[in-house]
Amino acid sequence: MSDEILRPDADDTELAFEGALRPQSLGEFVGQQKVRRQLQLLLEAATLQNRAPDHILLAGPPGLGKTTLAMIVAHEGRRPLRMTSGPAIQHAGDLAAVLSSLTPGEVLFIDEIHRMARSAEEMLYLAMEDFRVDIMVGKGAGATSIPLELAPFTLVGATTRSGLLPNPLRDRFGFTAHLEFYEPGELFRVIERAATLLRLDVDGDALHEISGRSRGTPRIANRLLRRVRDYALVHGGRADRTAVRAALELYDVDEQGLDRLDRAVLHVIVDRFAGGPVGLSTLAVSVGEEAETIEAVVEPFLVRSGLLARTPRGRVATAEAWRHLGREPGAAAGHDL
Ligand SMILES: Nc1ncnc2c1ncn2[C@@H]1O[C@H](COP(=O)(O)OP(=O)(O)O)[C@@H](O)[C@H]1O
Ligand SMILES: [Mg+2]
Repeated sequence: MSDEILRPDADDTELAFEGALRPQSLGEFVGQQKVRRQLQLLLEAATLQNRAPDHILLAGPPGLGKTTLAMIVAHEGRRPLRMTSGPAIQHAGDLAAVLSSLTPGEVLFIDEIHRMARSAEEMLYLAMEDFRVDIMVGKGAGATSIPLELAPFTLVGATTRSGLLPNPLRDRFGFTAHLEFYEPGELFRVIERAATLLRLDVDGDALHEISGRSRGTPRIANRLLRRVRDYALVHGGRADRTAVRAALELYDVDEQGLDRLDRAVLHVIVDRFAGGPVGLSTLAVSVGEEAETIEAVVEPFLVRSGLLARTPRGRVATAEAWRHLGREPGAAAGHDL
């Protein structure tokens, strides 16, 4: 669907394809140089001391490589990997079952860790710190807690909303990696690598054009690459710059990588609210989307592109945004932000 092409969350059909493209080592992982070097040090130190690496929190918008890095942490240390997610942990018991079955040195990946049940969070504090959990047996006055020793493990948590993690949990990670959006040159290398792995014949010009429209996000870059490949296949032409332009126009992706929802958000602020400020919930209702989607997916990219500013009184369209919509910046856009 055209509206979904720039959404950074992966759907199911995409997962198998992504698996094939996931870098297996830090060396193959493109960009994020700082984080890569920090992780490298942490993993090497653990290997030298023959212990499980510290717990790691991976924070950042969807599609930037959190799951990939979790797999790399396990792979580089030749450790088994167990994968689960916050929404799958509804009760402390769900977590106890996972923790008690870990083997020594195993890497436990909890995706969307901010969505885990509160009761499980508290159990996790103790498990992370002392490799121990207290299992409650019985109810009411007769309830007792039985301590259970766990095998030493490395927790890798991923979150798109690190602000939602309670401090005690955040503090128990030995290292937090903040993943940044990728530069076009880095995305170029991501899709160049993908094109080689998938044996796609794509022009350098086309790769360049795709990199500039991928919202700084490898998952989106890989997805646009496939749409361009489809376009060239169906039209019997080369996957060149013309094919990129035609394919992305078909999918409503503009030259800055904005899609219909991004533009709808900007239009609402500019046209209906004279440039803002507009509150998040008003904005969400006006474009018919969940506030969470606007906040986690639409806004980070618009802010980073200099098109939107978050102020204490609400969201404001910048002069750049007015121009992007083909307007002269209105009076409201000239305010100091
Ligand atoms: N640094 C990178 N180098 C190469 N490919 C990457 C990189 N980061 C992400 N990818 C690719 O992008 C896709 C999404 O990455 P993923 O780790 O699932 O993101 P997240 O878990 O943060 O949503 C995967 O197919 C992965 O191969
Ligand atoms: Mg992921």
